[in-house]
Amino acid sequence: MASSGPLMEIKNLETSFFTFSGEVKAVRDVSLAVGRGEILGIVGESGSGKSVTALSVTRLLPENGRVTGGEVLFEGEDLLKKDEKAMRRILNGGISMIFQDPMTSLNPTLRVGTQIAERILAFGRGVSRDEAWRRAVELLRQVKIPEPEKRVHAYPFEMSGGMRQRVMIAAAISTNPRLLIADEPTTALDVTIQNQILRLLRGLRDQIDSSILLITHDLGVVAETCQRVAVMYGGKLMEEGLVGEIFYETAHPYTAGLKKSLPRVDQKRDEALFSIAGSPPSLLNPPAGCPFAARCARAMRVCDEALPPVYHLTPTHRAMCWLHHPDCPGKGEPLA
Ligand SMILES: Nc1ncnc2c1ncn2[C@@H]1O[C@H](COP(=O)(O)OP(=O)(O)OP(=O)(O)O)[C@@H](O)[C@H]1O
Ligand code: SF4
Ligand SMILES: [Mg+2]
Repeated sequence: MASSGPLMEIKNLETSFFTFSGEVKAVRDVSLAVGRGEILGIVGESGSGKSVTALSVTRLLPENGRVTGGEVLFEGEDLLKKDEKAMRRILNGGISMIFQDPMTSLNPTLRVGTQIAERILAFGRGVSRDEAWRRAVELLRQVKIPEPEKRVHAYPFEMSGGMRQRVMIAAAISTNPRLLIADEPTTALDVTIQNQILRLLRGLRDQIDSSILLITHDLGVVAETCQRVAVMYGGKLMEEGLVGEIFYETAHPYTAGLKKSLPRVDQKRDEALFSIAGSPPSLLNPPAGCPFAARCARAMRVCDEALPPVYHLTPTHRAMCWLHHPDCPGKGEPLA
C-alpha cells in the first residue's frame, strides 16, 4: 500500500553469485532510497554491481545469483518476500525496466504495436484489443516516434537503434509504472540520439509522474539527467549525494577519478582521456579494507586493514572513505 516514505528503499542489500570458483560477492551492504518523482543515478565502472543491484530489486537475477541479505521496500512492502505471482504483478504495473539493448526484450517476430498492445492487455482489466492498439499508437507518439500510426505496424528490425529504444520506453511506460529502472539505456547509441533519449526520459518523469533509477557508467549522463547520484565500486556504495555535491564537493577519491575521466571542453581531439590506473578488486575474495585501496593515490595503511565507515557530510551527502575520519592527517585536502 502507498506510504509516505520514499518510493523504494534498499536496505543492506547483499547479492552473490555461486560459481565453480566460489561465491562472487557482487553487491555488498548497499543501502539506497529512491524518492517519489526523482531521478536517481547509479554510476560506476564496469563490474561495480550496478546491474546486479537492479536485477536483485526486480528479482530477475540469473539462476546462479541470490540475494543473501537485506530488504527492498517498494511502497513499504518487501519485494524480496513476494512470491513469483505477486512479483510478476509488480513488474507489470509498479516497476518497469528498460535495458541497454532493446533487441533483448523486443520480440523480433512481432510488430511493435502488437508487443505494446499485449503488454497493455496483460495488465489492464477490461481493455479491448482496439483500445490497446489505439493506446499503443498514443504511446509511440508520447515517446516522439514520427508517424506513429504507420510505425506501429513496423517490426523491430525495420527501425533504427534509437527508435527501438523509444519503443522499449513506450512498452515500459504502458503500465503507468511508479518506478522506471533504466539500465544503460543510451550506451549503445550515438551522442545525439543519446541526448534525445535522455531528454525524453526527463520529460516522461514529469508527464507520467514516476521516479527513475538511471544506471550508467557515464558521469556526464548523470550530470544532465539526475537529481541525486550513488557511486558504486566493487559491489559497494562509495559516495552518495545531490548532483551538485557529487560534482562540486566530491568526497571520495574514486568519484574524483571518474570525474577526471570525463572529456573536458578544452580537450584536444588527439589527447587521450584520463582513466583510473589499475583494475577493480576480485569479488570472489574481496579485500578486507577499502575496495579502492589498490588504485587510490590517497591510500593510507588503515585503508588496507579495515573497511572505512560511512561518513555523513550533510543530510544528503555521504562517503565511505577514511579521509573523513576526524583524526586523518590529510582530512580536508582537496581530492585530485
Ligand atoms: N551470472 C553471473 N555469475 C557470476 N558473476 C556474475 C554474474 N553476473 C554478474 N556477475 C559479476 O557481478 C559483478 C557485478 O556485475 P554487474 O553486471 O552488476 O556490473 P555493472 O556495474 O552493471 O557493469 P557494466 O557497466 O559492465 O554493466 C561483476 O563482477 C560480474 O562479473
Ligand atoms: S578509504 Fe583510503 S583507499 Fe579508500 S578511497 Fe579513501 S583514502 Fe582511498
Ligand atoms: Mg551493467
